[in-house]
Amino acid sequence: MTPIRAAVIGWPISHSRSPVIHSYWLHEYAISGSYERLAVPPERIREFLRSFERTGLKGANVTIPHKQVALSCCDSLDEAAEAIGAVNTLVFEDGRLSGSNTDGLGFLGSLDQNAPGWDAAGGAAVVLGAGGAARAIVWALKARGLNPIHVVNRTLSRAQDLAARFGAQAHGLDALPALLGEAAVLVNTTSQGMNGQSSMDIDLGLVRATCLVTDIVYVPLETEFLAAARARGLRTVDGLGMLLHQAVPGFELWFGVRPEVTGDLRATVLRDMGLAELAQ
Ligand code: ATR
Repeated sequence: MTPIRAAVIGWPISHSRSPVIHSYWLHEYAISGSYERLAVPPERIREFLRSFERTGLKGANVTIPHKQVALSCCDSLDEAAEAIGAVNTLVFEDGRLSGSNTDGLGFLGSLDQNAPGWDAAGGAAVVLGAGGAARAIVWALKARGLNPIHVVNRTLSRAQDLAARFGAQAHGLDALPALLGEAAVLVNTTSQGMNGQSSMDIDLGLVRATCLVTDIVYVPLETEFLAAARARGLRTVDGLGMLLHQAVPGFELWFGVRPEVTGDLRATVLRDMGLAELAQ
């Protein structure tokens, strides 16, 4: 049998950790397949997707900046991709390209694994940011029944657009202090806290002791936001788990095995990120 091939498509693509994750699983489950990085520039992405058969790939992950274009080139979409408005996973079968979005499922998978029972009591969620990543997070929180969901963003109009899409509530940053005490879950989806950027000024003293605090940023692994939450004794989950868990459905669709996110996989990815000291 010809080995199954999958890939991650983006522009640029050299930073993607997806090959490390999928190659780890291919080795772990002794599957003779491959997973490549493919740099496809914006001016070529439509043609690439429309003639997907020529690539010989069984499927692909799609990353920045192609997630929206991918949505418009698919023959069918899953419910998450449709709701989120972006595709990060493609499967090619019987001449048809199917698109799904596994970012929200990845977020849920990570919280389920790293903070079991986190959603048992329901309650309010406060989401910081209203970009593409926030869409997947709001979709996921809604799917788990968190209610209300407050979207808080520097640019109010973007919060309003996102909130309208999911029946959430929109706020500017000035509303944050009043909302923090209500949060059962507090999620940072903004780029604030990535290497070289200062964290947003958030008074975590206003947050309930039972609140779960999580960040989708994973470089650095512990953002200032998470460090501050941990210092207050709050339960925290870093962003790496979401990256690992979002890869699970794609691997299963292409290679036929549902892979496990283990401590060893996490350590392998951390070593690839140059963080060997955290890989234990
Ligand atoms: P992504 O698709 O990765 O979510 P994005 O669409 O660029 O990226 O969204 C980035 C988010 O971080 C936005 O919510 C952005 O706020 P604006 O909508 O006001 O731009 C937020 N963000 C970026 N820099 C910020 C800063 N210095 N302070 C507060 N929010 C910031």
